[in-house]
Amino acid sequence: MITFPPELVHLLRKAARAAVLTGAGISQESGLRTFRDAQAGLWVQYRPEELATPRAFASTPKLVWDWYAHRRRAARGAQPNAGHYALVEMEKKVPNFTLITQNVDGLHHLAGSKKILELHGNILNVRCSQCGTFADDWSEETEEVPRCKKCNGLLRPNVVWFEESLPREQLEAAVRAARNCQVFFSIGTSGVVQPAAALAHAARNEGAVVVEINADPTPLTPNVDFAFHGKSGEILPELVKTVWG
Ligand code: OAD
Repeated sequence: MITFPPELVHLLRKAARAAVLTGAGISQESGLRTFRDAQAGLWVQYRPEELATPRAFASTPKLVWDWYAHRRRAARGAQPNAGHYALVEMEKKVPNFTLITQNVDGLHHLAGSKKILELHGNILNVRCSQCGTFADDWSEETEEVPRCKKCNGLLRPNVVWFEESLPREQLEAAVRAARNCQVFFSIGTSGVVQPAAALAHAARNEGAVVVEINADPTPLTPNVDFAFHGKSGEILPELVKTVWG
């Protein structure tokens, strides 16, 4: 049982505008590895930061394709956890609520959140690396990377890689939500990847109360108003119950 500070409970009860940024940690209790966790099996020898780049795809497309195919299988088999569902409840209670996620696993959609900004795309979708056309069906287990039916370009996951730009409209909407909110949550993210990591600071500079929920302290922790360290799948449902239950 967690005791939440009364001033936070009071603030949330009255809040008209909230923004939430989530990272891989919120999906950890759904059985998905976080981005920077040690990799398993075949993939132990590779660093995620070195696979998730346009350069890696240009030089070793099959390796990068296979890594995403492996993660796509995991994402397809995963179910939302209590943390995802608590955010669905929060969206119902706060009139102006924006969920910003760096996750590519689609679990917020599956849980039933409505207003979601996916800053890093969605691993379940695949598009052509040349012409951008989305593929409806493709074979995961081919010798070669599958190709676009329209232009024969190599297919790639519809995610944002390191060194690529974030989708502009989504990013602008995320910055607006961070600047306008009264309460900003940073949940399950290591806070080391820009520009997502800067959102908490943007919110704070405009006077929002910043709350962190993470398994461990992060570089953001010294700059937040409230930090709760533990599992988001346990802390978030308790918070929602305490405030609105
Ligand atoms: P990271 O893997 O960097 O960080 C995951 C965070 O979740 C860590 O701070 C953990 O302490 C925390 N965590 C783990 N389990 C948790 C739990 N059960 N409850 C709460 N917190 C938990 O993942 P991200 O911050 O999401 O982008 O990484 C950001 C981006 O880096 C990724 O989206 C990826 C990479 O660039 C792309 O691939 C485009």
